[in-house]
Amino acid sequence: MSALIVAAGSGRRAGAGVPKQFRRVGGRSLLERCLEAFEAASEVDEMWLVLPRRKLGLAGALRRRFAKLRGAVAGGAQRADSVARGLRWVGHDGVVLVHDAARPFVSSSLIRRVVRAARRHGAAVPAVPVADTLKRAATGRQVQGTVPGAGLWSAQTPQGFRAALLRRAYRRRGAGASDDAALVERLGRRVVLVAGSPLNFKVTLPGDLILARLLAGERTR
Ligand code: CTP
Ligand code: MG
Repeated sequence: MSALIVAAGSGRRAGAGVPKQFRRVGGRSLLERCLEAFEAASEVDEMWLVLPRRKLGLAGALRRRFAKLRGAVAGGAQRADSVARGLRWVGHDGVVLVHDAARPFVSSSLIRRVVRAARRHGAAVPAVPVADTLKRAATGRQVQGTVPGAGLWSAQTPQGFRAALLRRAYRRRGAGASDDAALVERLGRRVVLVAGSPLNFKVTLPGDLILARLLAGERTR
């Protein structure tokens, strides 16, 4: 079973400076926290990492620390390009997990749920029910409408797939898919949801880094 960790984004929405996956919370970077979680998960045999090209030099030291880390590859312009590049290195037809390096609080129990469901059903996505009322607004802030929330889920990562299925989905990839499962859905294949976790949120906006520091036990003002 392989885990592919995508860390090649620029973290524009989280604010200026170092991309969020390299920011430290509680003494370790978000990326290191992810690698620790997958290293500790007994289902995971190997890890592949997708980095910004100029950061590929980090791979050597990380490989010495994380025994399951097989290598690192340079990412592409869009997240999907980064996943496609990493996927080339996954040689088997077992399950592959694709995880955002920007989700540092992924747990081993969540990883296990995804792996089991992906083995059984072919494609599995951890998700939490949408709790807030969703508003649609134009570029200004005037509300245009309210989105009915019934049946809506927030999709997280790691998303798990039989490797052959994910490869086929990526070969037929068109524009505009917002996650890996969406490409599998387009093939008309079944994707199942498993229980995600509110702790497994994606660090996206500056406020999310504050939350991450609190969860990591950092003292904040
Ligand atoms: N990612 C990637 N390659 C890209 C874009 C994103 O590997 N070309 C990774 C990010 O590093 C992150 C994950 O995909 O771990 C989820 O993407 P997102 O939260 O959108 O991160 P960024 O694209 O870096 O942030 P932003 O969209 O705010 O610029
Ligand atoms: Mg992005």
